[in-house]
Amino acid sequence: MQQKSPIQAVRGMRDVFAPEALYYQQLVEKIHHLLQQHGYNPAQLPLLEKTHLFARTIGEETDIVSKEMYTFLDRNEESLTLRPEGTAGVARALIQHGMLQQVQRVYVEGPMFRYERPQKGRYRQFSQISVEAFGMTSPALDVELIGIAAELFAQLGVLDKVRLEINSIGLAEERRAFQKDLVEYLSAHETQLDEDSRRRLHTNPLRILDSKNEAVQRILDNAPSLSTYLSDASHAHYQQVRELLEALGIEYVENPRLVRGLDYYCHTVFEWVTEELGAQGTICAGGRYDGLTEQLGGAHTPAAGFAFGLERIALLSQAYFERATGISVYAIAADEQAFAPLMVTLRKLRQSIPALSITLHTERQSLKNQLKKADKSGADFALIVGEQERETDTLTLKNLANGEQVRVGLTEGIAILEKGRV
Ligand code: HAM
Repeated sequence: MQQKSPIQAVRGMRDVFAPEALYYQQLVEKIHHLLQQHGYNPAQLPLLEKTHLFARTIGEETDIVSKEMYTFLDRNEESLTLRPEGTAGVARALIQHGMLQQVQRVYVEGPMFRYERPQKGRYRQFSQISVEAFGMTSPALDVELIGIAAELFAQLGVLDKVRLEINSIGLAEERRAFQKDLVEYLSAHETQLDEDSRRRLHTNPLRILDSKNEAVQRILDNAPSLSTYLSDASHAHYQQVRELLEALGIEYVENPRLVRGLDYYCHTVFEWVTEELGAQGTICAGGRYDGLTEQLGGAHTPAAGFAFGLERIALLSQAYFERATGISVYAIAADEQAFAPLMVTLRKLRQSIPALSITLHTERQSLKNQLKKADKSGADFALIVGEQERETDTLTLKNLANGEQVRVGLTEGIAILEKGRV
């Protein structure tokens, strides 16, 4: 009979196992804690939304909406899309449930879907924690959001590997005047533009500003500058953002060409960037989006937010989590009768030391073979109960790194495992 080839995962969608899956989980828990310390509450929202939610907010001409969404008709012929980001869904839900009368601080964690070309740090299913705040106009909010990310990077010990870039893109009408002049300027240089920028000239001209093409960047050196189109009020908002960042000691770089790939932003936009992950260097990004709720038919509500790109942050902070993982034990019953006292002991150990991870060897094997398995498992200790231990109500702990071994009572065993040394 012909063998069928095994089914593979969808391209760009990853299966993740330990230890990465463990680091990832710890990262997420750390961020949850940090957000709750800042008064943000979790929300759980659908992965599927009506397609026009994203078209109307992110923008028809953006890369995300024009070519990256997973969109399909359901059995009722309704066009649905797997969420490519979290902000639009949060705004939709808060309007739908009439929750925008009060200030809201919420976050949504989970998978997002974009049909991009997969590479290191860029996947078709990836995860974000999308952090969103509604009902506040003050630049203090913009800086609170930036500060949450700064605090995470400090805790993970990666602050020296990341750079905060900020810009102000003002209000839509200010951008419209700028865009008109930018298009006029760039049209005069159209033949020198790369294909991508030429296309954007007619669809989404502002995105040309963050083109990676050096020739395009040189042409932009003499282009009109967005900042000169901003009103005094927009300048004042941006000035306060910078002053607050300075007061908090958060270093930043002003990038006048930072415009972001989603259309809903106004005023402050920011990205946390690293050089350590190759081309996919933006690990966290966001900004203010005062016009979004109105675009969705809700009342005008000032708002701002950002999203942690979890895979990229996990890649950057792996060393932190390698150090942070707790002690692990491989538990061995030297004979069949040892299982009962051993499993009772393990329950007590798990209750006494919550950070301990214990794997029980359940299959019948010689002590020697079980110890080999313990070595291979990468555990810090083997814990053995056999005839002698049963009779004396003790346990044997073997440090698998240096081979040292002791037979001790439960209390002493707990002390050793808490210290992580025999
Ligand atoms: P975004 O810049 O499209 O913004 O994505 C935010 C972050 O998600 C990126 O900086 C990156 O770390 C991560 N990310 C994006 N695409 C991928 C991918 N294909 N693979 C892996 N990671 C990826 C937004 O999504 C906005 N909703 C952020 C926001 C929230 N603005 C206001 N509130």
